[in-house]
Amino acid sequence: MIRAIKGTRDILPPETAAWNRVENLARQIFAAYNYGEIRTPVFEETQLFARGVGEETDIVSKEMYTFEDRDGASLTLRPEATASVVRAYIQHRLWERPGLTKLYYMGPMFRRERPQKGRYRQFSQIGAEAIGSESPAVDAELLEMLVELLTRAELAGWELRINSIGDSACRPAYLERLRAELAGVREQLCPDCQRRSVTNPLRVLDCKTPADQPIIEKLPRVSEMLCQPCRAHFDALKALLEDRGIPYTVDPRMVRGLDYYTRTTFEFIHGKLGAQNAVLGGGRYDGLSEALGGPKAPGIGFSIGEDRFVLSLAESGVAPPDTALDAYVVWAPEDAAAPRESAASGTAPAGGGAEAAQAAFRGAVFRRASELARELRRAGFTVELQPEPRKLRRGLEQASRQKARYALIVGENEVRQDRYALKHLESGQQREVSRAEIAGALRAPQPA
Ligand code: HAM
Repeated sequence: MIRAIKGTRDILPPETAAWNRVENLARQIFAAYNYGEIRTPVFEETQLFARGVGEETDIVSKEMYTFEDRDGASLTLRPEATASVVRAYIQHRLWERPGLTKLYYMGPMFRRERPQKGRYRQFSQIGAEAIGSESPAVDAELLEMLVELLTRAELAGWELRINSIGDSACRPAYLERLRAELAGVREQLCPDCQRRSVTNPLRVLDCKTPADQPIIEKLPRVSEMLCQPCRAHFDALKALLEDRGIPYTVDPRMVRGLDYYTRTTFEFIHGKLGAQNAVLGGGRYDGLSEALGGPKAPGIGFSIGEDRFVLSLAESGVAPPDTALDAYVVWAPEDAAAPRESAASGTAPAGGGAEAAQAAFRGAVFRRASELARELRRAGFTVELQPEPRKLRRGLEQASRQKARYALIVGENEVRQDRYALKHLESGQQREVSRAEIAGALRAPQPA
């Protein structure tokens, strides 16, 4: 049997309804904040991520799906989308359009991580980027939009953590000090941190190894070394969040795993996710455009891990949208004795049954049943039409198995009188309705 590749998965109904709900909500809310959708390619030149995300990050150094194209070009399945959005910003000279560039995206990302709950090799992100201003008001608005989304999705128990990691003016001095301090304690750290203390010392700060924690706690914090403009920016953001009544905690060790960040970084954490507890993360990247050969274009954005978001909603008891059948249209052909039913439900009648079925499909009963199904579907109901001729009893069994709220029964008499039996399957109550009454009856929460 061919199975889905490790770290990838199929998302099936009814779970996909929960995904659609989140995506629809995100689209509505992003549109209200004037974000337009961007769709970028799933693969890009490897250089884009090497330069954008950073050679020394875990993502670039060990998690990318990189392959050589037939013409020798090195291509990579996108591990994230911010670099692609900024590439598109530069390529299409989006700064020439009036106002900020506000873009959102949703789609699959690829990282070769060790799969576990909430961590996959193909996962989906819903993200947004606001490019063209360094104002802390843009940071605050972006965080407000996220709070709107989490609130309207009914995710309870999230926590917003923020930090500022400085900019090109103050970070180099901080890194120098951090490196110096790390040199003294290097031998006591985990092997990953020993490597990071040389290649990417900032990343030591978000190491999760328990034995390293007491040592890391004593390291200097970037917040102590912020230059005046970075400090003012961070203070302004905090005040704007307080004005909006958005609760946050400052996490001075949150540095995030991508190299493009400057100043504001943030994550929303959800307790029910366990080790992979970040539902979403983001931050400012005021120098990314220039690093990719573009003009000065300060920006900020976030990406929601959609897999994790849907998981936390389920674990918080948010009911997925109702995808139940409103009605199952049961019909019994004119000559009920004629079709020979196959034993297994759902398979077409065999042998001579096929001819009888053809005849049944040309009969008035099936035509009426199809018409009614079509009318109800157009009126917005979710309707299943019995696919083969069956005895009434069998049709009703199928309707129950598929958990339809109602069975609409169409037989010869019903067609003749244009009145139908509507059976509420849970209570077993059945009544006769005219064609015009069916939709109203389905709409009522309880059978009349
Ligand atoms: P990131 O923190 O690498 O940031 O990813 C954002 C979110 O994607 C994470 O918080 C997590 O929910 C989800 N995620 C990451 N890796 C996996 C995985 N292997 N399986 C499942 N979910 C995962 C970024 O990607 C930045 N582009 C965010 C950003 C946008 N910064 C500025 N603009």
